[in-house]
Amino acid sequence: MCGIVAYIGKREAYPVLINGLKMLEYRGYDSAGVAISNGDFHVYKKKGKVQELIKHVSGAKISGTIGIAHTRWATHGKPDDINAHPHVSGNGRLAIIHNGIIENYNVIKKALLEKGHTFKSQTDTEVLAHLIEEYYEKAGVSLEEAVRLALTKVTGAYAIVVMDSENNDKLVAARKGSPLVVGIGEDEFFCASDASPIIAYTKRVVYLNDEEVCMIPREGRISIKSIMANEEQTPLVQKVDLKIEELEKGDFEHYMLKEIYEQPKILIEAMRGRLNSNEGWIKLGGIDQVKKRMADADRFVIVACGTSWHSGLIAEYMFEELARTQVEVEYASEFRYRNPIITDRDVVIALSQSGETADTLAALEMAKKNGALLYGIVNVVGSSIARLTDAGSYIHAGPEIGVASTKAFTGQLAILAMMAIHLGYEKGTIPRSYYNQLVAELENIPSKVEKLLEADAQIKYIASEIKDANNALYLGRGYNFPVALEGALKLKEISYIHAEGYPAAEMKHGPIALIDENMPVVVIATNKSSYEKVVSNVQEVKARKGKVIAIVTEGDTAISEIADYTIEIPDTDEPLTPILSVIPLQLIRK
Ligand code: M6R
Repeated sequence: MCGIVAYIGKREAYPVLINGLKMLEYRGYDSAGVAISNGDFHVYKKKGKVQELIKHVSGAKISGTIGIAHTRWATHGKPDDINAHPHVSGNGRLAIIHNGIIENYNVIKKALLEKGHTFKSQTDTEVLAHLIEEYYEKAGVSLEEAVRLALTKVTGAYAIVVMDSENNDKLVAARKGSPLVVGIGEDEFFCASDASPIIAYTKRVVYLNDEEVCMIPREGRISIKSIMANEEQTPLVQKVDLKIEELEKGDFEHYMLKEIYEQPKILIEAMRGRLNSNEGWIKLGGIDQVKKRMADADRFVIVACGTSWHSGLIAEYMFEELARTQVEVEYASEFRYRNPIITDRDVVIALSQSGETADTLAALEMAKKNGALLYGIVNVVGSSIARLTDAGSYIHAGPEIGVASTKAFTGQLAILAMMAIHLGYEKGTIPRSYYNQLVAELENIPSKVEKLLEADAQIKYIASEIKDANNALYLGRGYNFPVALEGALKLKEISYIHAEGYPAAEMKHGPIALIDENMPVVVIATNKSSYEKVVSNVQEVKARKGKVIAIVTEGDTAISEIADYTIEIPDTDEPLTPILSVIPLQLIRK
């Protein structure tokens, strides 16, 4: 994750770029940098947050109406001033910012070293700057053509913007596997890794497609070409439906907390117009479009990464139990490199907040070639996954700015639950009475989440008791096993504490050896199937003096008597439990 912002027009570029970087800072705060030209070429880079860059630049005479800027989350080379972007080509003329990873950069670097190039940084991005320079200088072509030719030699993922300090009349942008959007203003253009830094200036945007290179002129119209086929493409101008207020964090300490608190509202949004308990129906437009193929499918294959993969695991329980559908859940990053057996009788469901995750996209492309029906459950409207899939359901969670996914996860679960309940009823695998019960309970879920959020102060206290631990275990069974995985991921990501999630019964097959008085063990022990067995698992942890934090159903007594801390969640039907049991785990933080 890194953030890109670029500007060309009549304004001073620096304030536009710095404001853009502040909006994108959540995407990486190892270092930040900016390049601006007005004939004189200024490049400033600094390790640390955008504020450090601002301090570094303060006092300098930095002026110009064209520029690029970047906030970095290091992949190649440690976070320092030299490895920060923008990177400059060998002759000092071109500057480039880049999100993604150039996988064959070593091979290209070796060839360039043999030609006499020398490199200052350890990054793959600097190699790309030198490669573009080779084509620009030696082939004597336009900058956009040099970028295109260089990119035909590159494998990996990228979103890049390139500027030429000796020609201030254009920027060149390109993407493959990493999003890039061009904002179209009055006699000015913006470019960014997402629309947030752009919408204060214009709502008219063009989302670049994969493998496209775009020339952004100071005056006139942008022009787009496909990288490999070198064919002219028609830019599709769209209106971004995003309000600036949605991007502000208000009184919350940080975006993640804001988004956790938005969950009651977004769950209502995810279900709006799709479910009605008074009339007893669930309607998902996406499913209606592909009803027959979905009904005839041999199996569902769910592809996703990270948190979205965890909701896929929960969906497996839902679809198997309610709709008796065979389900396989795959890490998209593994699936795409295997040779999986996919046919035109499969439905491949992609789960993704951003709709841009490169591995998930690649997995879908592979499934498409094999004739599978593609269904997307994504948050970002118009994203690459949304466009590639045959049908789908948007999550409608609004922008998720916190890197740690929260509201997109519970939103995905609400949609997956609606799908499973609907398909189960259509197939006759659940009776009408249970269908009605689940529909009614889904409608109650937002207010139950609201109530649960009141436990924040108690959870903060519990977190303060375990904040010095170096490791933690998360245990759950059935529907709560993937929730345990998700809880452990959140702790790692947010509190930098090593944590592992396990099916509770697996503990005795090894991990139990780790338990002592220094090991916090978070057990999700709601009162449904396997409850008695989870009580035994808690006993095992206590026998080894582990510190148990238990997530239990309201009114629980058995676990409350033995656990060190308990957090109660409202009762609900078992398939819906994860939407509630994950909330306290999102709130545990240092
Ligand atoms: O946008 P996606 O849902 O496709 O992203 C997949 C993962 O990168 C993402 O869920 C990641 O694991 C979360 N940010 C973790 O909180």
